[in-house]
Amino acid sequence: MAKAPRYLCRDCGSSHTVWAGRCDDCGSWNSLEESDNQLGHFSKKLESGTKSSKNKGMVVRSLADKIPPAEYVPIGIAEFDRVLGGGIVAGAAVLIGGDPGIGKSTLMLQAASLCGQNRKVLYISGEESVEQILLRAERLSQQSPKLEVAAETSVENIIAGVQKLKPSLVIIDSIQTMHLTSLDSAPGTVTQVRASSHLLMSAAKKYGFSVILIGHVTKEGAIAGPRVLEHMVDTVLYFEGERSQHFRLLRAVKNRFGACDEIGVFEMSGVGLREVDNPSALFLADREEAIPGTCVIPALEGTRPILVEIQALVAPSHFAAPRRAVIGWDQQRLAMILAVLEKRFGYGFGKQDVYLNITGGYRLLEPAADLAVVIALISSLGNYNVPANLAAFGEVGLSGEVRAVPQPDIRMREAAKLGFAEMIMPKQKIQKSAKDNLHCTLCSDLNPLVRRFPPIKEEETHSQAAFM
Ligand code: TYD
Ligand code: MG
Repeated sequence: MAKAPRYLCRDCGSSHTVWAGRCDDCGSWNSLEESDNQLGHFSKKLESGTKSSKNKGMVVRSLADKIPPAEYVPIGIAEFDRVLGGGIVAGAAVLIGGDPGIGKSTLMLQAASLCGQNRKVLYISGEESVEQILLRAERLSQQSPKLEVAAETSVENIIAGVQKLKPSLVIIDSIQTMHLTSLDSAPGTVTQVRASSHLLMSAAKKYGFSVILIGHVTKEGAIAGPRVLEHMVDTVLYFEGERSQHFRLLRAVKNRFGACDEIGVFEMSGVGLREVDNPSALFLADREEAIPGTCVIPALEGTRPILVEIQALVAPSHFAAPRRAVIGWDQQRLAMILAVLEKRFGYGFGKQDVYLNITGGYRLLEPAADLAVVIALISSLGNYNVPANLAAFGEVGLSGEVRAVPQPDIRMREAAKLGFAEMIMPKQKIQKSAKDNLHCTLCSDLNPLVRRFPPIKEEETHSQAAFM
């Protein structure tokens, strides 16, 4: 009987017997791809292996057993070590993802050469030739006696090499270029990525070296390849930033050996990445002192907090129907917020054009941005200055009430870490420690903001316009 084809979802790794435009499991579009059933063969082989008489069964231990504490070996880059939770643990697997050209290879080469001062490190690139890597190392003026580089894409060759060289850290740049010659599918497919990382990680556990896998990122921002990859590894890091700007953030989204709300901040320079000790200074560098019409919101991306600046410009309109232009936010939501401000609090937006922009090309989707949008709008209308170290989050309802939003603690910690001193937020349950270094104004409705940025009525905006 002919073998039924099997389709695997590129994003979540689930298997399907018929092709469909959308994965039933994770809902992503156009992510199913045909796979040969070779992983199935492997598991069959494994199954028959378990029946053989040589099998010893598993070893169990008591929870009370004393074991030495996990040893964290520092990489040598303080910001990187902080995100890892103190260093890398022997036998652990770390996955690091980021947009193309953001500096993953640069960061890893710098880490490899620092680490290679006293430990044996193997840097394997499937994307660049050895000459290119050496050129880059020269540019970064990195020399390291115990760092060895190789251009290789076959996982079988890598594992054979590792057995011989016995490194303590192996860096794979990138996992999407690696392949098992015994599998037919092309590098980068679900089958190859899953099988290659599985083999590399079991080798790491068996021979006691740590492995860092670099992963590509899809246009939605997730690490390309099956989502299971993120479940398999011990630590998942994202390296992110605007390519046109020089600062980069390294962020842990999963860490079995440390906290995952740590971020590391770097600056891209002509000679590689430099650590930034005082990130708030860097982040606020482009922001002017107190100006009207801006407010920062600590937004959440999944579980990841990201600080985003909202800018509003409210100007007298020359049109019969004033313009409402929005970039990066929901037009309907802006209309709703404007209606609440007009009807409930008397702000006169009726004869004003309103422009709203989320800086950095970012798209904000969550309602938690409402409060920051309100501050940007009313401060621009009345020309009130907004302190540069003020941030806000909270959902605004139709009667002008301010509602609780998820994960306030993460947002507050992130803002405090980046140097913000004042937070306007909903009255909601928060951990005491989240308030450290922050002056919080808790609001159950918009009245505290109305007192601080008093309404300009529609008649007043007419007289304002007449003077301009
Ligand atoms: P790279 O590490 O190759 O990115 P990735 O591996 O994430 O794709 O980084 C490439 C970018 O970094 C490239 O646009 C040039 C820039 N860069 C510097 O600005 N300074 C440097 O010293 C180096 C090595 C790269
Ligand atoms: Mg690269």
